[in-house]
Amino acid sequence: MKGILLAGGTGSRLYPLTQVTSKQLQPVYDKPMVYYPLTVLMAAGIRDICLITTPQDQARFQTLLGDGSAWGIRLEYRTQERPAGIAEALLIAESFIADSPVALMLGDNIFFAGDAFPKAVSDFQDGATVFAYHVHDPERYGVVEFDDEGRAVSLEEKPSEPKSNFAVPGAYLFDAQVIEKARHVKPSARGELEITDVNKAYLVEGRLRVVRLSRGTAWLDAGTSSSLHEASAYVQTIEKRQGMKLGCPEEAALRRGFLSLEAFEALVAAMPNCEYREYLSDLAAEVRRVGLTAA
Ligand code: DAU
Repeated sequence: MKGILLAGGTGSRLYPLTQVTSKQLQPVYDKPMVYYPLTVLMAAGIRDICLITTPQDQARFQTLLGDGSAWGIRLEYRTQERPAGIAEALLIAESFIADSPVALMLGDNIFFAGDAFPKAVSDFQDGATVFAYHVHDPERYGVVEFDDEGRAVSLEEKPSEPKSNFAVPGAYLFDAQVIEKARHVKPSARGELEITDVNKAYLVEGRLRVVRLSRGTAWLDAGTSSSLHEASAYVQTIEKRQGMKLGCPEEAALRRGFLSLEAFEALVAAMPNCEYREYLSDLAAEVRRVGLTAA
């Protein structure tokens, strides 16, 4: 499966932070925001990734992430002229997708769902797979309604009267037919090509799988000042308690075998002295001692 990471948009809700740097480059605790969804893709074994940014931010993302080869992945860059909707990402990436299934991740979604995402990727055959996460404010999101037997029966984008508390996070798996579906989507009342309309097209065909994320998993979006702060606090709390980092692409590359231990050590050796380097060099030493243990 290929991956698309959508990191465009104006970031207006984070003004003035986004005056000079894009939203997805802002720090979430100890790393740039984009590291988190990128790591989710990599940890699921996806190593061919198209990163979509605004034209003005592209060079900054390239400075940060390069062509991906340092992490054993391939990054291809494309731009979105203006934020015309999440579904437009699928059209921008059309030649990248070609005839492959694809995972689309939003660059401001911080998604810690344990094995749910890697499992959905490895189980994926065709159609589309989305996730459902119980929230207290579903009206802010795409909302999925289930019938008594747990089957998804409706999807609505930001309904004023939500039919359930289950929001659909910004992580979607599609087969290659998604390009055709995205082509038929018309701009919504807010003038965007809505990803919810793409998902609805699969729902009406009976080809949408909805995976409910269990209690205790975390899905945060970091699009406002307070949610950005909450995401940072969450990451800090978990990292401090467990002594393991979240959203660390170098670690995902090592664990998935995208990098040999030697290549990983060389990468770490080139980093400046900092907590991040210390963490990765401790990890390398542990792997030398006992091999790869708990992820
Ligand atoms: O966060 C999950 C929600 O994301 C879903 O539940 C909704 O169904 C989906 O429509 C979307 O909701 P939002 O309207 O809150 O998304 P937002 O406009 O904030 O965009 C999400 C990210 O995608 C953000 O980092 C900017 C980027 N983006 C967005 C648009 C519309 C782009 O790069 N280009 C775009 O055209």
